[in-house]
Amino acid sequence: MNPRAWQLLHLLSDGDFHSGEDLARELGVSRATVFNDLTSASESGVQLQRIRGRGYRLHGGWQPYDRKEIERFLGSAAPRFALEIAHQIASSNTELLRRPELISGTVLAVELQTAGRGRLGRPWHSGLNNALTFSLLWRFDCGLNALSGLSLAVGVAVMRALKRFDAKGAGLKWPNDIVAPHGKLGGVLIEAQGDMYGPSIVVIGIGFNCSLPARIDELINQPAAALDQICAKSPGRNELLAALLCELALVLDEFSRNGFAALKEQWEEHHAHRDAQVFLQMPDGTQVSGIARGVSDSGELRLETEQGTRQYHVGEVGLRS
Ligand code: BTN
Repeated sequence: MNPRAWQLLHLLSDGDFHSGEDLARELGVSRATVFNDLTSASESGVQLQRIRGRGYRLHGGWQPYDRKEIERFLGSAAPRFALEIAHQIASSNTELLRRPELISGTVLAVELQTAGRGRLGRPWHSGLNNALTFSLLWRFDCGLNALSGLSLAVGVAVMRALKRFDAKGAGLKWPNDIVAPHGKLGGVLIEAQGDMYGPSIVVIGIGFNCSLPARIDELINQPAAALDQICAKSPGRNELLAALLCELALVLDEFSRNGFAALKEQWEEHHAHRDAQVFLQMPDGTQVSGIARGVSDSGELRLETEQGTRQYHVGEVGLRS
């Protein structure tokens, strides 16, 4: 979408009808230009309605990221973060990885990711206004070899943030999927750079389904869920982002001091497959079955198998029916 299309979307963010004529006047362009820009916006997945005689409307309105709002919700934690907000970018993780000179605490929140990336090389699908997609760059004094369990620690921070909004039935699927009973709510993609013995830079990318329009649901090739299905009053994206950042700062400090071991018990409290019969799909295509018995001090999944309790650091967990 071109910058003018984004300007138009801001004008339409109240969710009310605006005539093509008014929009054109506001931007000093022709009605045909408004039509073309908004057509390109709807091709990017924006839910736009056009009714003859009434004009254009952004279905459900749009609450853009707002730096002041986010900082207000961050409160005393605000100085720990350097916020960047982008309209449209391929992937916030890719962007921050490209800029390792950035200070620790840099956050890139993106309205529309056009090539969001998930774990294991999968795509991450989200549309404008239905998702929270952001990445946080964090520097650690320790090396890459001391970061095991970090992705699970991030899951603990996410659960603490969700608790603030009374998200019913949310849990963690190993290693760090955020799940509701009927599908995946969000995911975490952690990518690290640095030396084995330190220091290291980590980019923590988090994607959350705030709502789930059919168009996005169809793209996701697994059962998906959204926050508005499990929260009595789902938070706005600015408030949700701030809550996640506050909890991340606390958890990452804790992780720096004591590693994952100090957070393991909290992770296990939220383990969606605790004591359940599961299988682990390994990258080489084999499967291991067992009972999920929590995680190790460094974040490996503990499975009680017929051969005894084993620990795994890779694999995709599924529920045995
Ligand atoms: C997963 O596969 O579960 C991880 C999904 C992570 C998605 C987020 S959205 C923000 C950040 N940018 C990306 O390209 N991916 C992560």
